[in-house]
Amino acid sequence: MTVPEPAPDPGDEIDLTLPNPARVYDFMLGGAHNFATDREFAEKLLAVLPDTREVALANRAFLGRAVRACLDRGVRQFLDLGSGIPTAAPVHEIAHRADPAARVAYVDVEAVSVAMSRRILAGVDGTSITAADLTDVDAVLTAPGVADLLDPAEPVAVLAVSVLHFVRDDELLGTLFDRYATAFGPGSMLVVSHGSTDVDDPAAAERMRTIERFTQDSAQPARARDRAQLRHLLVDRTGHRLELLEPGLVDVSAWRPEDGRPPVGPAGMYAVVGEVVPRRGDGQSR
Ligand SMILES: C[S@@+](CC[C@H](N)C(=O)[O-])C[C@H]1O[C@@H](n2cnc3c(N)ncnc32)[C@H](O)[C@@H]1O
Repeated sequence: MTVPEPAPDPGDEIDLTLPNPARVYDFMLGGAHNFATDREFAEKLLAVLPDTREVALANRAFLGRAVRACLDRGVRQFLDLGSGIPTAAPVHEIAHRADPAARVAYVDVEAVSVAMSRRILAGVDGTSITAADLTDVDAVLTAPGVADLLDPAEPVAVLAVSVLHFVRDDELLGTLFDRYATAFGPGSMLVVSHGSTDVDDPAAAERMRTIERFTQDSAQPARARDRAQLRHLLVDRTGHRLELLEPGLVDVSAWRPEDGRPPVGPAGMYAVVGEVVPRRGDGQSR
């Protein structure tokens, strides 16, 4: 089947020489916002690991369940870091179904994702798309799409779903999390999914190792982290901690599966969903 190339806006800076995770991921989800270089890369990956598409779908399904869990807790603002292309049950559709006044600020570093998001979100109230690198926290938090849309005094669910494995430096990742986790009001949440190779299922672990190897030649090489590292970097910080929602730090497919059982076997990605709670003694305990 010939898939028409998406037409980027003139002036978009798009590197078509290297496959890009947002567009490869879009292809895996059945979207049309990808280029030949992305499809070739995806087909090579699928030839070695035919169930990679199920992993992408499992991750995306987790995102939806986690957003609904935040809505159930009364959170009405979302900061989606590394949002990709907001099709296939995107955050704003889920949030607006629960509350048309909910606000969703999308942030992505990749030009096609940003251009496509801009088109998809045109005229959709309570949404924005910001082109920024999530590692530049000041740029993200002061961007008009974020600062003018989200009320920092109110809780925000900060989503970093299938993106933090592109931040390779541990120290940087820990610092980033500290900044984002404490930027918003009480009751704020963190939602993360992250590739790992220490899941119990050997096939899932090997699949993630292969994906890690494959991405080394892509625009955004990935780095898997194990459970202990994620707990150290995201859950148990010095200034605050995450109070994890049940069932805790588990594979995305096992995080509150809606039909009572995981849709696929382990995806090889850990899920973290928790409320940010300041530690006693730092002057903000509650
Ligand atoms: C695999 S996609 C995940 C999309 C979406 N979060 C989801 O889970 O359905 C990863 C996205 O993160 C983006 N990304 C990677 N590194 C980033 C960075 N440093 N800052 C912002 N976005 C980034 C990529 O461009 C891509 O759109």
